[in-house]
Amino acid sequence: MKVLGVETSCDETSAAVVRDGEEILSNVISSQIALHRPYGGVVPELASRHHLQLIDSVIEQALADAHTPLDGIDAVAATYGPGLASSLLIGLNAAKGIAFAAGKPFVGINHVEAHLYSPLLAHGVPNALPMVSLIVSGGHTLLTHATAIGKHRILGQTVDDAAGEAFDKVAKLLGLGYPGGPEIESHAEHGNPAAIDFPRSMLHDGSYNFSFSGLKTSVLYFLRKNPHHRVEDVCASFQEAAVDVLVGKVVRAAVELRVNTVSASGGVSINRRFREKLGAECARRRLQLLLAPANLCTDNAAMIAGLAFHKLQSGGQSDFSLEVAPSIGLGVGDL
Ligand code: KG4
Ligand code: ZN
Repeated sequence: MKVLGVETSCDETSAAVVRDGEEILSNVISSQIALHRPYGGVVPELASRHHLQLIDSVIEQALADAHTPLDGIDAVAATYGPGLASSLLIGLNAAKGIAFAAGKPFVGINHVEAHLYSPLLAHGVPNALPMVSLIVSGGHTLLTHATAIGKHRILGQTVDDAAGEAFDKVAKLLGLGYPGGPEIESHAEHGNPAAIDFPRSMLHDGSYNFSFSGLKTSVLYFLRKNPHHRVEDVCASFQEAAVDVLVGKVVRAAVELRVNTVSASGGVSINRRFREKLGAECARRRLQLLLAPANLCTDNAAMIAGLAFHKLQSGGQSDFSLEVAPSIGLGVGDL
């Protein structure tokens, strides 16, 4: 079964064709990063206008790359939330329109749930589950336990900023560009991660929750007190603190829940230091680690089409009256 997926929840216009929830036939991603860079963040009005301009050509390109005419598509899926309302509307309406006109089933997909299962696109489902999965992006920091696709629960989440948001805000404090994650990572490579002892908030509190706003404030106070700091050392020390908390919690969850597989997804999971430390911890504890390639970690439509296949297998077709749900949470599957 071939599913056409569409994703426009934030600043990426993306369309993809995925066969049987696993084989990615195409995954076209048009990023608006350059458009929003001068503003230091995503401007919703600009984002939706850009989605509208690009959506048709991105979908056409996805079909062309997959060598599949619309007739060869079995179902159409789109993100319906969470995200920016005006951006979600563009992709959701485009996908509903195509599905309706072509007489195909339509599936609305939760963006966070798609991130959760995105590592399985690259690695296959059978050996992966149950798993402890960290979703760590600009908008979300969630630790979950999944026993089957659609069967998951939230173990913990951030009580304030998302991890990616902290990278973006700290980069701004340092006068670095947007988005902050890659900027901090590249400066950190030339810095000393032990130079400044920033707090590992909530690391040993026994919960699976996270907090990053204290870390961000510590960086702010440090910069005020130390005007002659080395940017590289601040980046490396901040990154180390953030990574230690993320890795510490996800590994502890896997051990405590006696789960053999750990996965991570979302933009922050691209971070090399994060991958290195998580990889080392998982190897030490003989845990299987599933990480998706970078283009499946950040926002993309392949993860939408991939999850839609599994939803359809269990009768998860959506009604055409489905509306955007900008603030929807992950939701809890029956575990
Ligand atoms: O998953 P994503 O593309 O979009 C959301 O759904 O939020 O994640 C974007 C976030 C941004 O905050 C960005 O700074 C962060 O992921 N990010 C990184 C890296 N690359 C992107 N954070 C740390 N290290 C990176 N290499
Ligand atoms: Zn995302």
